Amino acid sequence: MSALFEPFELKSHCLRNRIAVPPMCQYMANEGLVNEWHHIHYASIARGGAGLVIVEATAVSPEGRITPSCAGLWSDKQGEAFIPIAQAIKAAGSVAGIQLAHAGRKASANRPWEGNGHIAEDDHRGWQTIAPSAIAFGAHLSKVPRAMSLSDIAQVREEFVMAARRALSAGFEWLELHFAHGYLGQSFLSAHSNRRSDGYGGNVENRRRFLIETMSAVREVWPEHLPLTVRLGVIEYDNQDEQTLLEAIALIRQLKNAGADLVNVSTGFNIPNTDTPWAPAFLAPIAERIRHEAGIPVAAAWGIESPALADRLVRDGQADLVMVGRAHLADPHWPYAAARTLGVERPAWVLPPPYAHWLERYTPVE
Ligand SMILES: Cc1cc2nc3c(=O)[nH]c(=O)nc-3n(C[C@H](O)[C@H](O)[C@H](O)COP(=O)(O)O)c2cc1C
Repeated sequence: MSALFEPFELKSHCLRNRIAVPPMCQYMANEGLVNEWHHIHYASIARGGAGLVIVEATAVSPEGRITPSCAGLWSDKQGEAFIPIAQAIKAAGSVAGIQLAHAGRKASANRPWEGNGHIAEDDHRGWQTIAPSAIAFGAHLSKVPRAMSLSDIAQVREEFVMAARRALSAGFEWLELHFAHGYLGQSFLSAHSNRRSDGYGGNVENRRRFLIETMSAVREVWPEHLPLTVRLGVIEYDNQDEQTLLEAIALIRQLKNAGADLVNVSTGFNIPNTDTPWAPAFLAPIAERIRHEAGIPVAAAWGIESPALADRLVRDGQADLVMVGRAHLADPHWPYAAARTLGVERPAWVLPPPYAHWLERYTPVE
């Protein structure tokens, strides 16, 4: 029996398997509005059979976008554009999730395939970035952000709340807050980017405040029966890793009290040129530690492409869900391929009937 294809219950959901598609920016929106590209992309991936599909980092405000082409949820019109996408994911049998994000000092960048760095100061497409402190990320993202005032912090928290309401109205049933990858939440948490001397900076308790307050505020409007999750950078690969991880585990316990139901375990990406130990599923042992030490379900991500590896992570209790990202871009039917590899009975039925009926012949015939 494959562990990867066992159902997973969280709040009122029962995912059909442990395969989740992590948020992956498409950089194809216009004024934050999603369109036909996103519709086809997400419908195709959901039809592939994953239990959960999380729609890409969606900005809570215009200045929270990574690039001018990122998706947004700061207006009702943008919320309406998401309705057919959430519907298509659900019609395919997946749970429809979405990630809410603010890119902080990493915002106002070019699309990855157009240079990746910050948009030039004299280019009208760019904007002033904001962050806990006026410290640039560095390297290709050298723009110095404006340090946020207390009213900026309250405003962004409210923007997360409003975007959560719109996500719910659009039909999403799983919400993830993006507090990883050097974006705004992560840069409040990290001492590398947060040098504030008020209640939102300085000691570790203060650096956690924005994240916990935002989680609590969103939980107020996000229904109790639906999962509210967090993507957190729990390690920075800056030679203080054990300390960072212990602090992350303590924070996760607090986020759990504030309403988080699951942690999507990731890295900080908050300083340039780190020595990240890239290898298949390199974060899985850390995810396992969080699962046990913080007592919360976890998703493991990064470099999980082999079905046998994905299956083992679930079987060994390292993760409740496995996030399979780029492998889904290469093959939206990755779950079908995995089902075949793992010897799942009638693997074609991971796919919808118009495909499965014709592929059924792969099932061994007695
Ligand atoms: C095209 C692309 C876009 C991404 N966008 C996001 C995003 O919106 N939010 C996020 O948390 N991670 C994002 N990531 C990271 C993925 O969610 C995932 O963690 C990463 O691709 C590692 O998983 P993989 O090795 O299975 O691809 C992105 C990755 C890719 C390749």
